[in-house]
Amino acid sequence: MDGAYAGAGSLMELPLLSLRLSASYPGKPGVLKDVRLELNRGEVLGLVGPSGCGKSTLALAILKLLYLKRGRAEGFIHFNGLDLMALKERTMRELRGSEIALVLQSPMSALNPALRIGVQLEEAWKVHRRSTRRECRRAVTETLENVSLPADQSFLRRYPAELSVGQAQRVLIGMAVLHRPPLLIADEPTSALDIITQAEILELFSMLSRTMGIGVLYISHDLFSVAAISQRVAVMDQGEIVECRRTADLFTDPGRAYTRKLIAALPVTPQFRELQQAVGEWPA
Ligand SMILES: Nc1ncnc2c1ncn2[C@@H]1O[C@H](COP(=O)(O)OP(=O)(O)OP(=O)(O)O)[C@@H](O)[C@H]1O
Ligand SMILES: [Mg+2]
Repeated sequence: MDGAYAGAGSLMELPLLSLRLSASYPGKPGVLKDVRLELNRGEVLGLVGPSGCGKSTLALAILKLLYLKRGRAEGFIHFNGLDLMALKERTMRELRGSEIALVLQSPMSALNPALRIGVQLEEAWKVHRRSTRRECRRAVTETLENVSLPADQSFLRRYPAELSVGQAQRVLIGMAVLHRPPLLIADEPTSALDIITQAEILELFSMLSRTMGIGVLYISHDLFSVAAISQRVAVMDQGEIVECRRTADLFTDPGRAYTRKLIAALPVTPQFRELQQAVGEWPA
């Protein structure tokens, strides 16, 4: 296959994703400045940083979709034995959705309002698989169970407008993990949700990573939700990764002034205290 860079023998020992990227938009240079990142198989890596620092640009660059926004990226993206920068768009299209999935912020706008949920899931399956109707139904049922949604006919026949925002986000996450991709990129996936639903969706990502071995790049400007599910956290500021550490280390020994500011700004809620206990005390 074009773009292969590692023999199968050593593949499982390599990070799932390893990249070094710079990116720009017309009239906007230096949006990503030599960003380096590694993500291991089955790991949840949080990416946190203020609005405009380049988080979504990095997500799009990994999927090689920056061209949709007239952006350009340079560097390398090694993913699961492939050199993505060397791949043709045709091959990238095969990978998107089957090997690398993306979940975005607004579930309602990502679903087609005119199609029933069951039909949308079946179509997402057929994009990457030739299979019998029975296999397709089984995959749809399984994925709905994985995201704790009912898989009965009455649910499958609903339209997006007949779902809560939380249910719609679960459908999209179900769609994203339908093909059991090794990598899932979630860009602010809980921003449109109320606080209880946010917590449930966070738990869902964590569970999917544990049970299905999916590596998750979890992007948010909210350090609290990132810390709740990530084994490591990368902190981004103005297009640079300023630190990337184990979550507990980031809290107990934040290396950068910017990280200390982020931690100091966390609201002291009961959930925050739980997190504090989980990682130990850290300096205020
Ligand atoms: N198509 C574009 N053309 C020019 N500049 C752009 C374009 N898209 C994004 N930018 C700029 O690139 C920078 C990074 O944007 P990006 O969307 O990656 O930030 P972000 O960290 O995801 O922010 P947020 O937390 O608000 O989602 C910002 O300064 C933004 O204004
Ligand atoms: Mg963004």
